[in-house]
Amino acid sequence: MSGSMRAEVTERTVRADLVVVGAGIAGLTAALWAARDGLRVVVLNKGPRWNASSREQPTSTFYAQGGVAVVMPGVQGPEGPDSVDRHLADTIAAGAGLTDPTASGLILADGWASVSALIGWGADFDRDADGALLRTREGGHTRRRIIHAGGDATGAAIQRALHEAVRHPGHDARDAPPIRFLDDTIATAVLLDDGRAVGVACLRAGRAVSVLAPTVLLATGGTGHLYAATTNPAGSTGDGIALALRAGAQVADLEFIQFHPTMLYTESARGRRTLISEAVRGEGGRLVDVEGRPVTEGVHPMGDLAPRDVVADAVQTAIELTGHPCVYLDVSGVVDFEDRFPTVTAGVRAAGLDPAGGRIPVVPGAHYLCGGVVTDESARTAVDGLLAAGEVARTGLHGANRLASNSLLEGLVMGRRAAAVAVGRRGLPMPEAGGRRFEQPVPILERGLLQDMMTRQVALRRSASGLAAAADTIAGAPRRMAESVRDVEDAALTLTASAVVAAAAARTESRGAHVRTDFPLTGDVAESRVFRIVDGELREARPAAVPG
Ligand code: FAD
Ligand code: SIN
Repeated sequence: MSGSMRAEVTERTVRADLVVVGAGIAGLTAALWAARDGLRVVVLNKGPRWNASSREQPTSTFYAQGGVAVVMPGVQGPEGPDSVDRHLADTIAAGAGLTDPTASGLILADGWASVSALIGWGADFDRDADGALLRTREGGHTRRRIIHAGGDATGAAIQRALHEAVRHPGHDARDAPPIRFLDDTIATAVLLDDGRAVGVACLRAGRAVSVLAPTVLLATGGTGHLYAATTNPAGSTGDGIALALRAGAQVADLEFIQFHPTMLYTESARGRRTLISEAVRGEGGRLVDVEGRPVTEGVHPMGDLAPRDVVADAVQTAIELTGHPCVYLDVSGVVDFEDRFPTVTAGVRAAGLDPAGGRIPVVPGAHYLCGGVVTDESARTAVDGLLAAGEVARTGLHGANRLASNSLLEGLVMGRRAAAVAVGRRGLPMPEAGGRRFEQPVPILERGLLQDMMTRQVALRRSASGLAAAADTIAGAPRRMAESVRDVEDAALTLTASAVVAAAAARTESRGAHVRTDFPLTGDVAESRVFRIVDGELREARPAAVPG
């Protein structure tokens, strides 16, 4: 059995049928479905134990605002009938040539069943007086199909419902074994036996723990803290990308880091910043520059509700043309702004600003990783027994630019499919030994330095010279043992950054969320770039077949 990092005999071994790394929408959905089928599930969460009253949470899921994009059968909106095919067409249009239509069609078609299960678990989406689900619009959607909860507190409602479902699983799961949480526990390596994933090595309060299971699911979320400022919570440090790469899995489309057009601007801010939901524009908010000129005029027929890459680019252009550090979201036309958007209102107020003034200062902010660990339509990676779901995975749904509010839906659908795979693998023979981790120094860049470099050279606009400078900085990262949680995260950020930079340098065109100032045109042929580690080196690879 092999792994990476630290040389110490494991002090404690836990056994399960499925180990899930991550307690957001993808991880908890998988855990709930797997437990329902009788699997012993262990959920690892590097953040603190769920506490419904805490305002800081370790998952992006908790912070989701706009909602879940889903087509409800038989519902017709003001723009005309909706359908999964129309949702797919919008997803493909936003994805700038790299959306996989087959995989995406299958995911979107499963959307309503997955959302219905979530509602069954207690997620309380907003409804009108007749009890019908309210729906809003966001960028790139030609229909109002985004359901939401608590106005703009959708993620908090979902996270709460999932945790409640874990505590009170309901009738059909009465005999199911309880889901076991290991909170404040960081996964440091996927344990392998003869190329098969057999568990996860972890650090818990400074001590080594191994969780052995025939199926390992990575549901670790995103990579926002590659950058100095982001909409993501503190734990979005690309751990799952690093865990997968070191285990031998493939990653793809990592150059497509989506910058949300409207992150709250506050001078010199670092770390997690408040998002101003795209739904604000769906309800009448308008983007203007410092002189009051419309930011997206003449840029795209959908204007402020164009796909996210288009709007983020228009915002950046306006900032560069005016020399002013931000643009403004004019919310004076939004009916009952504070009631409809309580999360945004609280975030703006917390920054010492008053949304009642009508203009909220915004900039593009690092928000979402469109690519990730390559999986098939069942969440399987190229490593036997290793699955990935949620933001960490690359299913082909998001292409070069994710359609707004498609990721919560993807987490629900793919979490359920991952559980189904784990159920099929129950009872596979497991090695008796409980995991020994091998000492191996890894490159670790100091976090602030890495974030400043990525913000300068690998953000919304990239060029060969900037990417080469970034690659040099990463190549010079000192190698040392990852001794602490912070080290493990910084090592993950360093490896993930190197993969993002390699992918961005290899893509000599502009497409979707990836803009090259030296290659402004989009090529005729759209191809994903796949990378994996071979002989200790990150290399571009052709996609390998995933195990059937
Ligand atoms: P997360 O919810 O991020 O959970 C990751 C989990 O992994 C956490 O529990 C974390 O502790 C754990 N973890 C990570 N690394 C390790 C490790 N090494 N060891 C142990 N545990 C680990 N999408 C939409 O569809 N609609 C929206 O309205 C929307 N709004 C958003 C608003 C904001 C502010 C943000 C940041 C994102 C938004 N998104 C939205 C995107 C969406 O919320 C995320 O893509 C999605 O929630 C990711 O879910 P996940 O389960 O993959 O990961
Ligand atoms: C938002 O509310 O604008 C975020 C939606 C998303 O990222 O999907």
